[in-house]
Amino acid sequence: MIGGGTTAIAAKILNRHITCVDVNEQALERTRKSLEFEVENKSKQRIIKCDARNMTFIKNEEIDFVLTHPPYADIVKYSEGKIEEDLSGIHDLDKFCDEIEKVASELYRVLKKGKFCAILMGDTRRNKMYQPLAFKVMERFLKQGFVLKEDIIKRQHNCKATGFWVKRSQESNFLLIMHEHLFIFQKN
Ligand SMILES: C[S@@+](CC[C@H](N)C(=O)[O-])C[C@H]1O[C@@H](n2cnc3c(N)ncnc32)[C@H](O)[C@@H]1O
Repeated sequence: MIGGGTTAIAAKILNRHITCVDVNEQALERTRKSLEFEVENKSKQRIIKCDARNMTFIKNEEIDFVLTHPPYADIVKYSEGKIEEDLSGIHDLDKFCDEIEKVASELYRVLKKGKFCAILMGDTRRNKMYQPLAFKVMERFLKQGFVLKEDIIKRQHNCKATGFWVKRSQESNFLLIMHEHLFIFQKN
């Protein structure tokens, strides 16, 4: 779920080998482009079109660290419904969590024992009520065998939609969601 490649850029600068996957060819192309800079280290990147629920090209316990940033259900649609495997096409939160659990299972399989898996996840609102999507997702990771090492709150600011939502929140009397959870899991 490499998206525009921010994680790949950081890995390259930090001299880490990275395997990037995404189901969207445009995202992979953006990642390739964003990696077109020179560094004085030996980091390597492999960029592969693949569904995160089924990364058969990765062996069991091959990976030292996972950082993933899935869609938050359909809050932002990454392929406008054009790619069937794109989890941002799922509106129903329970169905979305069922699919995320498959990702969790696959991440558990590929990660080495004792190593860490970080996932950035946000919450949402439905029918004016707060939906703790991040906690629902966290539970699915625990169900797959991970243990929770940290829950780091990331403040969100300067979002494109902030102006629109400030007005809506004042009119309809709700608080803006201005944070995401960076869960750090460990495979014991
Ligand atoms: C929140 S974005 C990632 C943004 C990224 N952190 C960045 O810096 O640009 C989520 C990404 O997950 C991808 N995605 C959705 N469903 C997927 C799946 N089943 N397997 C792999 N990638 C998927 C989308 O195409 C999208 O690029």
